[in-house]
Amino acid sequence: MIDFDIRVSDRPLPDAERAEILATPGFGQHFTDHMITMRWSAAGGWHDGRLEPYGSFTLDPATLVFHYGQEFFEGMKAYRQSDGTIALFRPEANAERFNRSARRMEMPEIPVETFVRALELLVSQDRAWVPSTFGESLYLRPFMIATQRTLAFTQPSTSYLFCVIASPATAYFGGGTPRALTVWLSEDYSRAAPGGTGFAKAGGNYAGAYAASRQAVEQGCDQVVWLDSTERRWVEEMGGMNLFFGYGERVMTPSLTGTLLPGVTRDSLLTLAPRLGIEAEEGRISIGQWRKECESGVMTEAFACGTAAVMAPVGTVRGVAKQWLVGDGRPGPVTLRLREELLGIQYGRRPDPLSWVHPV
Ligand code: COI
Repeated sequence: MIDFDIRVSDRPLPDAERAEILATPGFGQHFTDHMITMRWSAAGGWHDGRLEPYGSFTLDPATLVFHYGQEFFEGMKAYRQSDGTIALFRPEANAERFNRSARRMEMPEIPVETFVRALELLVSQDRAWVPSTFGESLYLRPFMIATQRTLAFTQPSTSYLFCVIASPATAYFGGGTPRALTVWLSEDYSRAAPGGTGFAKAGGNYAGAYAASRQAVEQGCDQVVWLDSTERRWVEEMGGMNLFFGYGERVMTPSLTGTLLPGVTRDSLLTLAPRLGIEAEEGRISIGQWRKECESGVMTEAFACGTAAVMAPVGTVRGVAKQWLVGDGRPGPVTLRLREELLGIQYGRRPDPLSWVHPV
């Protein structure tokens, strides 16, 4: 395993200022006192691993990442347990997805144990930044960028920077019982195409989503729902989250066709649901079916899920000249049961039979 040099900040944020931030952390607005960095070069592999004070990078304007977007990231959280200790949730699953993204982007993989060690070190150093309120957490953002200074587009970068930053977070869509979202069916744009980078957590997938998100907001919606880019018929996912559909005591989520992001929350819910007596399957659903099943009452609820958002019920679907309610438009009972179980495990309030909780 690659070792990390520890360089502790001599100017951490004063306790009172940190407490003020933790009182209303928001999402992605404030950052802790430290970060992890590690460099890769073709000659030396991974080296110079460090835990160091949080700070800016100086990069040449010709650095490859600025031009061709060779970059990807992860999203995960550290949770304050009911006994005051801190835990990560399935960090190996994020490490494996990180490496799948790396392979797709022609970037170097990081050994799973090194990736997990980096997270443990940062969370442990900045443990005072992990909120204590149930539902709040320390959001962790590992990412990798191409750092070669070149505009040549002949081959991938010959050097890379890995970094992990941490940010205290309230629930993405606000705390407490989640409100049901209104979602916008994007007819003008696609998120990912077969053979593309849809399954990787590449920044470009998110940059390309802003135009559709703006349309969603203009239509009074919270999020975009993406359809497949070939037939423009099959429901794939939402902006930055996977989707589940509920039929009484059964849930279904679109299969991982290569264009969807393989969410860790998605996978966790597929595993947890049957343990709660809820049938769970992967499948596919067209936009026409979604409407019909809601109007006939067959579909009783729907929700989105992701690390940042946890689980967000979907109450209303809106598109050009159409709109329908899912169930009664409010958070459904299966959504709330699954959410309670998942959060219960993540915060150490429920048994963890699958050993998903990783103490730090
Ligand atoms: C996450 O859920 O961790 C994500 O990366 C989504 C991001 C758009 C906030």
